[in-house]
Amino acid sequence: MNVTTRQFEMLRDMIYEALGLSFDEGKLDFLEKRVEKRMGHLGVGTLDDYLFHLRFLDTRGAEMQALANLVTTNETYMFREFEQLQGFADHCLDEILAAKEKRGDKTLRIWSAGCSSGEEPYTLAIILREVIHDIEDWDIQIVATDLDEVRLGMARAATYGPRSVRDVPEEYLSRHLRPLPNGEYEVRPETKKLVEVRHLNLNDRSAMRSMRGFDFVFCRNVLIYFDDASRKAVVDSFFHTLVKGGFLFLGHSESVGRITSAFRLKRLGKHLVYCKE
Ligand SMILES: C[S@@+](CC[C@H](N)C(=O)[O-])C[C@H]1O[C@@H](n2cnc3c(N)ncnc32)[C@H](O)[C@@H]1O
Repeated sequence: MNVTTRQFEMLRDMIYEALGLSFDEGKLDFLEKRVEKRMGHLGVGTLDDYLFHLRFLDTRGAEMQALANLVTTNETYMFREFEQLQGFADHCLDEILAAKEKRGDKTLRIWSAGCSSGEEPYTLAIILREVIHDIEDWDIQIVATDLDEVRLGMARAATYGPRSVRDVPEEYLSRHLRPLPNGEYEVRPETKKLVEVRHLNLNDRSAMRSMRGFDFVFCRNVLIYFDDASRKAVVDSFFHTLVKGGFLFLGHSESVGRITSAFRLKRLGKHLVYCKE
């Protein structure tokens, strides 16, 4: 396929508008391969016809969603960025739980935004089950969201291969994951039940407004694919998502200090955490 600059820019702009993801010219081959796949699926002969379809015929967003499922980067595994999770468990979680206990509030809400196939939210569920000894007395909800419907299906299944569980400490593995005859592992029901999996596009303003009252937001290794403007819009939304005293965790290379001053920055070892005061 010979993609002209005009065609590339149209495609790039439509993806950015819908998803907040920013692709530069270096990603032309990557996008071209995915679009060819979709054109084959739709039986559309030319790129102009495909762009027309995306712009004018995709009124319900089904084609943009199908394309989104192909263009997102979904790499993840359990206990990714271990040290940051340790900081979460030892400092932030302790602080929130102690404050809540004091006022007799036994609810805890965590959002894993951009959860891919679910390894992150189930990691958080494992940590909570390990750290909160009277967990049955708490009303806990971990909401796991992503744009990619294929990955969300995997998150709902909660069954993982050895690669996904390679960094799970041995004793946690036996307590929270059940080995299956085919060599995979299934998250045990009592851990799985803490996680609720939903579709959510971080670039959808009204969907973002519906997310309120969270103590923690984890959005790690997601905003690297956004540009400053779409990243700022998402981070500003997270500020409203969090309760006062709540924490935002981003990936280690995703500092947003430059684009927002709404949060107080707190250092946890080599990681930063964003606190809403
Ligand atoms: C690399 S994975 C990160 C998974 C996990 N948070 C981690 O750190 O291991 C990035 C995820 O962000 C999701 N994503 C990208 N753009 C998104 C958007 N606009 N709304 C929701 N999720 C998005 C992708 O589908 C992908 O699953």
